[in-house]
Amino acid sequence: MSKIDLLHYPDPRLKQQGETVDIFNDEIQRIIDNMFETHYAQENCAALAATQLDFINPKRITVIDYSSNKDEPLCLVNPKIIEREGEQNEFEGCMSVYPSHIHAKVKRDYWIRVTAQDRHGNPLDFEAEGYKAKCIQHELDHLNGMIFLDRLKPFKRKMIDDKIRQVIKQLKRKI
Ligand code: NI
Repeated sequence: MSKIDLLHYPDPRLKQQGETVDIFNDEIQRIIDNMFETHYAQENCAALAATQLDFINPKRITVIDYSSNKDEPLCLVNPKIIEREGEQNEFEGCMSVYPSHIHAKVKRDYWIRVTAQDRHGNPLDFEAEGYKAKCIQHELDHLNGMIFLDRLKPFKRKMIDDKIRQVIKQLKRKI
């Protein structure tokens, strides 16, 4: 297994959409293993989407595990939200949004029904609410080429963009 580099905002590749997985072959298994290894190597990581990693033609795959012991892996391939209800407005951050301590409140559906496939292509159909629902919606955005900043109001977005620019400038000065 090997770790894969994370893409950091404003890398334009974060706008790529994931490709649908049709064949669940060894290559897909290897990609998923590497994604989990990358996930578990990060501190405070809840989930990763293939489109935020340094893949050529990333697939519609997300690996999720926010359990405290990191022993509840959930891999969703080709996930779709088919029903949604309610609303939540909670803080989100993202491993790709530099620096990682930038958080902002994002409006999401409180409850969702998800269809997807597992890593072997078996169909999944389940409901999620609260944190889990928020997490899946955040990952689905990644697979559609969106990050959580894209969901913020323009003035809030500009504030965060300015802050990120400053941090990047400071880091460059240090190198
Ligand atoms: Ni993210």
